[in-house]
Amino acid sequence: MSGEGIGFGKAIVFNEHFVVYKIPAIVSAIGKYTLAKVEPINRSGWKLNDNRKATPRYKEDKIDQQKDSINRMIQKMDIDLSKNGMEITLEGNLYCASGIGASAASCVAIARALSQHFQITLTDEEINDIAYEGEKGYHGTPSGIDNTASTFGGLIWFEKSENNVMDKIELQNPVEIVMGNTGKVADTTKAVAGVRERKEKYPEKYKEIFDRAENIAYLAKDAFQGEDYKEIGKLMNENHKLLQQIEVSSRELDFMVKLARDHGALGAKLTGGGLGGNMIALTPGKDLQDKVANAIEKEGFQTVKTVVGASRKVND
Ligand code: MEV
Repeated sequence: MSGEGIGFGKAIVFNEHFVVYKIPAIVSAIGKYTLAKVEPINRSGWKLNDNRKATPRYKEDKIDQQKDSINRMIQKMDIDLSKNGMEITLEGNLYCASGIGASAASCVAIARALSQHFQITLTDEEINDIAYEGEKGYHGTPSGIDNTASTFGGLIWFEKSENNVMDKIELQNPVEIVMGNTGKVADTTKAVAGVRERKEKYPEKYKEIFDRAENIAYLAKDAFQGEDYKEIGKLMNENHKLLQQIEVSSRELDFMVKLARDHGALGAKLTGGGLGGNMIALTPGKDLQDKVANAIEKEGFQTVKTVVGASRKVND
């Protein structure tokens, strides 16, 4: 047998980091995906061909985490490779960088490819659970938001809890965004640990920030439902401020966020773990999207032009 599967990249539109502490967050799958292929080999164990395009150092820096992640998923699926091994190949149009869901996309793609190769019929929920186990290899105690977006696609309201809450937010029309890559590979585990440390050290200050983040999530959900992009942009700007206050932004992220706003983006913020990685700018309409992307590219950064709120299909 052989197997194939995909996982989408993602952009967190509201409340990365806060989501780890059960504050609601809003995430969207994006129109880029990782494709995993699994094929039998004539020896035991597994080997990997990682053909994904990536930010320099991304793959090198994450190689140990990637091995751990794949082993975790194999174990979770009770797969026995002691006689017949397999080769996993990763490719697809998702350019790997921090903050764009590259690890989650690969976990979901691999889980799907393994289930096909070993003829294990799985629901999306089960794929999501396996990918979550894989995500632990990359960042210890993930909230589960990335693998959820990567598995199910669309725009999602997500709350971490015993049984994570996941509600689709349906938009009439998907809306354009630009993602800007700082080119800096960041370690999500470190970023999350830093927030935890400071939160314990300054409980009152952090409580105030977290309360506002929670408030913003509800306001943003209403604004999405009314397709009030001006309001969403304003809330994104405020969300970025809160992320700066919990010290997960960086000079490059702040620079790009300002640049995007100066060129007409309705709002912009860092997205994902921060400390490098990606930012996201809300740019309704193709013209504004091009204008903001061009301004960012002129400064030497890479961009991804995509939409949030589309129900995703391959090649979407
Ligand atoms: C990383 O994409 C998002 C974080 O909130 C971590 C997590 O939710 O697991 C920073």
